[in-house]
Amino acid sequence: MILSHIVAVSENEVIGKDNKLLWHFSEDLTYFKKRTSGKIMIMGRKTFDSLGKPLPKRFHIVISRSLINSNNDQVKYVSSLQDAYTLAEKMTLSDSWPEEVMIVGGGQIYKESLADTDFIYLTRIPGEFNGDIHYSLTLPKDFGLAYSQFSDAHPGLRYEIWSRERSSSED
Ligand SMILES: NC(=O)c1ccc[n+]([C@@H]2O[C@H](COP(=O)([O-])OP(=O)(O)OC[C@H]3O[C@@H](n4cnc5c(N)ncnc54)[C@H](OP(=O)(O)O)[C@@H]3O)[C@@H](O)[C@H]2O)c1
Repeated sequence: MILSHIVAVSENEVIGKDNKLLWHFSEDLTYFKKRTSGKIMIMGRKTFDSLGKPLPKRFHIVISRSLINSNNDQVKYVSSLQDAYTLAEKMTLSDSWPEEVMIVGGGQIYKESLADTDFIYLTRIPGEFNGDIHYSLTLPKDFGLAYSQFSDAHPGLRYEIWSRERSSSED
């Protein structure tokens, strides 16, 4: 299993406020859709609630300390990050889901999972925003920039992919 963060972050490291996003770039939403479609997504309960409804063509593993059952067959609640990994790994091995599992937020889940993450799909949002949830742009030292592309439509908006360089002894 490969674990990837996908996150959009402003210049002052804001990712949200009052359980909402603070910007709307349709191009970034299209990028998110392209990167997550057909895959398993892991998220915190607050981020799932902020979606309003499950997203098509994706499986949602939602982490919550409350015991919640969903009657949607594309949504499964679990009670810890470790349980999310265990379920995702089982599904990638047995149910033909792709090996790459996308961690889609929010702030708490990004922080708790950063040490386990292989890739970070980082959209840099131009400008500073007044928000209450943050993502540190000081990435761990073992991440290297693998891809960088400016948006054609929105000056200053940039898509980056960071990849963790694991030492061969960890393979
Ligand atoms: N810019 C972006 O790319 C992006 C992406 C995603 C989200 N966001 C933003 O991020 C914000 C939401 O982030 P957030 O940090 O407030 O919440 P979150 O990480 O989405 O969810 C937090 C919730 O997850 C559960 N949880 C977290 N750690 C857990 C653990 N170790 N064990 C069991 N359950 C655990 C708890 O649910 P319970 O309370 O149910 O126990 C907790 O309240 C929103 O503003 C959203 O718009 C931004």
